[in-house]
Amino acid sequence: MESSRIKDILNADSYGRQVLVSGWVRTRRDAKDFSFLEINDGSCLRNVQVIADASLSGYELNVLGAHTGSAVQVHGTILQSQGKGQAVELRASAVKLIGECDASSYPLQKKRHTNEFLRTIAHLRPRTNTFGAVFRIRSAAAFAIHKFFNERGFVCLHSPIITTSDCEGAGEMFRVTTLDLEQPPRLEGDYGGKIDYSRDFFGAEASLTVSGQLEAETFASALSNVYTFGPTFRAENSNTPRHLAEFWMVEPEMAFCDLQGNMNLAEDFLRFVIRYVLDHCAADLEFFDQWIEKGVVQALEKVAQAQFAQMTYSEAISAMEQSSRKFEFPVHWGADIQTEHERFLSEEYVGGPVFVTNYPKEIKAFYMRLDEGEKTVSAMDLLVPRLGEIIGGSQREEREAVLRRRIQECGLAEQPYWWYLDLRRYGSVPHAGFGLGFERMVMYLTGMSNIRDVIPFPRTPGNADF
Ligand code: 4AD
Ligand code: MG
Repeated sequence: MESSRIKDILNADSYGRQVLVSGWVRTRRDAKDFSFLEINDGSCLRNVQVIADASLSGYELNVLGAHTGSAVQVHGTILQSQGKGQAVELRASAVKLIGECDASSYPLQKKRHTNEFLRTIAHLRPRTNTFGAVFRIRSAAAFAIHKFFNERGFVCLHSPIITTSDCEGAGEMFRVTTLDLEQPPRLEGDYGGKIDYSRDFFGAEASLTVSGQLEAETFASALSNVYTFGPTFRAENSNTPRHLAEFWMVEPEMAFCDLQGNMNLAEDFLRFVIRYVLDHCAADLEFFDQWIEKGVVQALEKVAQAQFAQMTYSEAISAMEQSSRKFEFPVHWGADIQTEHERFLSEEYVGGPVFVTNYPKEIKAFYMRLDEGEKTVSAMDLLVPRLGEIIGGSQREEREAVLRRRIQECGLAEQPYWWYLDLRRYGSVPHAGFGLGFERMVMYLTGMSNIRDVIPFPRTPGNADF
């Protein structure tokens, strides 16, 4: 007999059905003639309550031996529950202990654990209510993202993970090498001492990608609308609740598209994913609303219907200068916008998601299209309450001469970008795209406050365990 998933049997339609349930024991209580087992299989937040009579064959071994954390399989009949708190219960005809669990050393006890503690047992935390719900929502959101782009005719592109170009030009790359770090080959002669990367695995300095954007631009220059959804890596030493060294990014890229078209897509996209999760993960969202972030469901409902506000960087700076708010990082035209500023703008000034556009070119990447007047670039960041920046994007510089100049001004070497410049010589078109930090999206959806708790195994400075 095939196992039923618990989510499919916890309803009145199942009364009288014979089923096999496979899962892990959350708790067991023993009465005189029977035991209650709460079983969870990860298909939903809820457990199924099993009633196992002491008269079952192998009761001692299979039921009384099934401690919290054990894996069991239960054959039985679904009945309308007599008890409070659940609609159905499973009256067992047979219980089989599949995997024992040593009660004295099992780290997940009935009490509530802190998320900090659970990070130290990241291999077991998916068995908790919170993490089960996070990762079901993460999965639903990933599916919704592919669905959104698929329905709009975007081609899904698997951009490379190992690369020899730095997309953001910020030098925050993890090196990929097979050189002997104790005795690397050195360049001879005038360059004495420098490492000879031509003898490295790829014949050049290689790194883990910080973004699939540049490769997505090449494909957009042929397939018109594409997107990537993959892991990206940043060797920035940011120990914050919003930064990971390895995170997943969604990056659409559209040919024949400008900044406004880019923002329109980002807005539709975000609303679509939120709507999908609201419609498909109601019980899990309810859990977050009750235990993690009060009001998160209502806030998502609101955003799923809202028009997002837009303001230029210059307007954002004026708004902050004119507010009575004291910021830790001073506000003036030209200054980078910090998390505290982002949160002020979205939470207090706008009260919802807001696109900030046209940033000073000095604080943005080389590839962003230079605006008229050459002070700002056609960039956009989407700021949301609680998190700040969730999306960063721009219209790209499609003019070869300007791009070449910007690469130089940014102090970058032109050579690694030769193919990127080629795109501007052969059928160049206005184009635009953005990157959504997928973990930030999951934080936004769940109300979880630390990015380490929305990715299965977080990689942060000093930590790559598991
Ligand atoms: O703003 P970023 O750096 O933009 C890019 O990488 C562009 N190439 C995207 C594009 O236009 N195709 O990063 C995009 C988003 C941010 O808005 C943020 O949500 C997320 O990626 N992000 C991070 N998420 C977790 N940890 C980090 N260290 C992150 N850095 C950026
Ligand atoms: Mg950014």
